[in-house]
Amino acid sequence: MPPDAGRGSGKIKIIIVDDIPEARENLKKLLAFEPDIEVVGTASTGREGLALAKELLPNIVLMDINMPDMDGITATRELRRLIPTAGVVMMSVQGEAEYIRRAMAAGAKDFLTKPPPAEELYATIRSVAEMMEEVRPVMSSGMMSMTDLSPAKNKGLGSGRTTHLIAVYSPQGGVGKTTIAANVATELMKDGTKVLLIDGNVQFGDVGIFLNLKPQSTILDLLNEVQDLDMDLVDSVLTTHDSGLRVLLPPQRPEEAELVDPTKVKVLVEKLYGAFDFIVIDLSTKLDGMALEIFDIAERIILVMNPTLPSAIHTLTVLSLMEELGYPENKVQIVLNKVTPELERAKVALAVGAIEAKMKRKALGVIPMDERKVLFAVNRGTSIVAKERAASPAKELIALADALRASVSTESGEMESVTPEPSKPSGSLIGRFLNNSKK
Ligand SMILES: Nc1ncnc2c1ncn2[C@@H]1O[C@H](COP(=O)(O)OP(=O)(O)OP(=O)(O)O)[C@@H](O)[C@H]1O
Ligand SMILES: [Mg+2]
Repeated sequence: MPPDAGRGSGKIKIIIVDDIPEARENLKKLLAFEPDIEVVGTASTGREGLALAKELLPNIVLMDINMPDMDGITATRELRRLIPTAGVVMMSVQGEAEYIRRAMAAGAKDFLTKPPPAEELYATIRSVAEMMEEVRPVMSSGMMSMTDLSPAKNKGLGSGRTTHLIAVYSPQGGVGKTTIAANVATELMKDGTKVLLIDGNVQFGDVGIFLNLKPQSTILDLLNEVQDLDMDLVDSVLTTHDSGLRVLLPPQRPEEAELVDPTKVKVLVEKLYGAFDFIVIDLSTKLDGMALEIFDIAERIILVMNPTLPSAIHTLTVLSLMEELGYPENKVQIVLNKVTPELERAKVALAVGAIEAKMKRKALGVIPMDERKVLFAVNRGTSIVAKERAASPAKELIALADALRASVSTESGEMESVTPEPSKPSGSLIGRFLNNSKK
């Protein structure tokens, strides 16, 4: 992290990115009157703005939405990844909700309608600058961890355990992500292995419902303190299931999902390295900033799918996307859930072999459909693997946990260390694609 990226007690450094010269000039003139604000550069396209921001490390970027070459939304997504310490204020002549939503989703901190009244411009700049000062220490540690390839156990708060981060994902709802995540996490606890299950479905997570947990504290309690985290605080926030499984629950209300900052989640997960042997994170179906942050640092991504055509098509799309993101092949594993041999024989469901051939890989696990046993476990808040372990679907879930454990172990039996992916050039999917296709 360059030493002068912070503002300290100096002026708020601003870059103006707008393709219309008069618009740039007008903003510059307005800002020239403010003693605590300094315009350090101007650019006429998103791409130019990005290059300038990398060089000048501004505190704030005033970004127009509609520009040729690279538009403001794409540039904001790139900027968020490359220089997370710079706050973007998006500007547009259109102040419609859709524009504001897109700007915010790209990572803008505020939005101004063009031309902004002077007082509103100053107030917005100052409030975003203040916001960025508060998050700067968190961002700095996040940025450091992107390039720091030392073993995970040396980075976290924990007691030197080598942590394996497992992300459970599917682009489709209801395929069994939570069922797989909760049961695999429980089964991994064998022989004193310490496991944390994080409900990463921050809007409608149901790990708490599946395991009958009463939420007292949630991920927000840790994210708010992520700069000064210690293990006592972590312990007090985690919930413990009867089985001994530690669980980090999501916010209690859907609207609080907006308070979950993906960058902070990544920093939080990395701070928990060393304290657990496995961290399993049950994600939602969204392919958003949070999923990307977790995918990047995960040692294994389990793609859960069902033997149906829509599931196979979406899974194939995600697999090719992950290939294009540059993930090694064994990082991404498929698990087939709700497999029904009768339907397969009747040619109603896709055959496991046919799916594996299409995906060009063996499934790490094949879990049969058994509504009675799965619902029985959910209704009682227990895991499936806790009972009738020799019978389906417990035995297949146990085999999956064993296969996962083996897949992260080295040949000598030693656990290999987590090696985070090298820093990726952009937080946005489209940005990553453009970047990778240029190679
Ligand atoms: N192997 C299985 N056999 C029968 N029912 C199953 C099986 N796996 C999951 N289910 C059921 O399917 C439903 C969806 O499962 P689950 O909630 O685990 O999926 P999910 O992918 O996490 O869903 P969401 O996208 O809502 O998070 C639940 O009712 C669960 O009980
Ligand atoms: Mg779920």
